[in-house]
Amino acid sequence: MHLRSIRDVKSWKGKRVFLRVDFNVPIVRGKVAPGGDWRIERALPTIGYLTHHGARVILGTHLGRPGGRARAALRLDPIAKRLGTLLGGGRVKKLPECVGRKVAQAVAKMRNGELVLLENLRFHSGEDTDDPKFAKELATLADVYVNDAFAVSHREAASVVAITKELPSYAGLLLEEEVAVLSRVTTRAKKPLVALLGGAKISTKIGTIQNLARKAGTVLLGGAITNTIFAARGYGVGASLISKEDFALAKKLRSSKKLELPVDAVIGDPKHPERTARVVEIRATPHEVCPKKFAIFDIGPRTVALYAGFLKRAQTIVWNGPLGWFEVRSGSHATRALARLIAARSSGRAFGVVGGGETIQALHETHMAHFVDHVSTGGGAMLEFLAGKTLPGIKPLIKK
Ligand code: 3PG
Repeated sequence: MHLRSIRDVKSWKGKRVFLRVDFNVPIVRGKVAPGGDWRIERALPTIGYLTHHGARVILGTHLGRPGGRARAALRLDPIAKRLGTLLGGGRVKKLPECVGRKVAQAVAKMRNGELVLLENLRFHSGEDTDDPKFAKELATLADVYVNDAFAVSHREAASVVAITKELPSYAGLLLEEEVAVLSRVTTRAKKPLVALLGGAKISTKIGTIQNLARKAGTVLLGGAITNTIFAARGYGVGASLISKEDFALAKKLRSSKKLELPVDAVIGDPKHPERTARVVEIRATPHEVCPKKFAIFDIGPRTVALYAGFLKRAQTIVWNGPLGWFEVRSGSHATRALARLIAARSSGRAFGVVGGGETIQALHETHMAHFVDHVSTGGGAMLEFLAGKTLPGIKPLIKK
């Protein structure tokens, strides 16, 4: 898949560019959370490229899910501040709105190489509904559209899809990199390909599980998705986190031979996770894995050893989703251990791709992120891409 790239444009001088980025980052007490700015950092090369070449860059992003109305906690001032620091200490001008007369006036005053940040695009309901009218309003601000927001390219949103019908549209450097690397996994991955998938919901992973398993890969499962699979099969999982609406999908997964499920688990009382944690076996036929008031916290040590065997033989590794209750110590051992192993394999012979907010947090906490070949900025977007879908935000950028 080849995209129209910002490098294909002969001159950016004086051009007004609507640059869609994904700065959906954690905000804690009015500031970008410590270590939470990696999505902003990854957009810097494109911002630098465009401003260096004399473009006037109008940055647009969403933050959170405000549902089409302005919410003080989701204003972008902390992001403007952090971006300014990352750009070398200067102030980034943040506009109080993303469309309208005042915004148009501020954009008209911009000089070549300057940058402004619009207010949260999701304060307008037209963003989430891919409204052509809202897209037109955004488009009047610019001459060219650039998408560098891989992480939201699976959403049909006005600033991602409809706007491409209004302006000549290109892919930014980060979007290009994400597509090149993830295509390598879906089209020419070195075998064996091993995917490690955890997290909460089967419905968001089912396509990826099926597509990667079809590609002669092995899919190792952990986290709450396996609680749901066990519960759907008639195992007693007590108070474990499960997703009831995924039961039908969980049953469908039953027959596949390319799936590996945990053979043991760490269980305990969720009210006293450190004091009560213990390891239990999970047998091939349904039984009570944990008593009613107990919950599954993590995959157990035998499962970690089993999965490590697959990962050590893999030439391509994909990882998305924590394998247990990562926030407590007794639920985080497997995620940490496998994060280290995946990082070690990726710095050696295997090609390793990791994505998803909590997964990346685990990599950062174990100081392993820089050993992995590619850390994707996308969570849902990465999964949908790996499921073989052409993302709606990428489709209009494909070179014919
Ligand atoms: C993400 O954080 O995965 C993207 O920014 C998309 O956000 P959304 O799931 O709220 O659309």
